[in-house]
Amino acid sequence: MAVKLGDKAPEFVVNTTKGPLALSDFHGKWIVLFSHPADFTPVCTTEFMGFAERYDEFKKLNAVLIGLSVDSLQSHIEWLKDIKEKFGVDIPFPVIADINKEVARSYNLIDEKAGNTVRGVFIIDPNGIVRWMIYYPAETGRNINEILRSLRALQLNWDKKLATPVNWNPGDRGIVPQPSTLEDAYKRINSGEKVWYLKYQEV
Ligand code: BEZ
Repeated sequence: MAVKLGDKAPEFVVNTTKGPLALSDFHGKWIVLFSHPADFTPVCTTEFMGFAERYDEFKKLNAVLIGLSVDSLQSHIEWLKDIKEKFGVDIPFPVIADINKEVARSYNLIDEKAGNTVRGVFIIDPNGIVRWMIYYPAETGRNINEILRSLRALQLNWDKKLATPVNWNPGDRGIVPQPSTLEDAYKRINSGEKVWYLKYQEV
């Protein structure tokens, strides 16, 4: 069954370009798990360099990046070596070699017809719960600004219980949870709010 928002993220124990690892090794951290269609492809190459460029920002947010495709470890190593040699970019995060497609299937990141992984991203919270996911077409590169923005929005909710309004960006006001009783709804109105169901709060 396809993993949904709010589900426990399926555990995996895998081989990666940084050695064997398990999802549970990262308990207490935010995990950005992203799949790419294939090694040695143009859009994916730009994305890997893009993630590498923003690696420290993810790290500062207590987040780890983990790449994934059904290509072999040998292929991943050759590709990352090529990126280093041709573009001068080190890829600092692990890339899973999911040759038997188990991880891809458990996260619904596989195109069964084509036999490759799709372009997807999952954000998993420090308790191992899936909090965010997005899919892009093979020909469309990911927006890393949006992944970081979403991670920060998730963390605002995690840390301060605030939701985020349309087009929120870090530094903008958050939204206080709605009252759950009639009495609290009236309290809001009586305190001068325009409506009982929307109240902003500076962060
Ligand atoms: C790419 O990364 O460039 C790509 C991968 C699979 C299909 C189309 C494009």
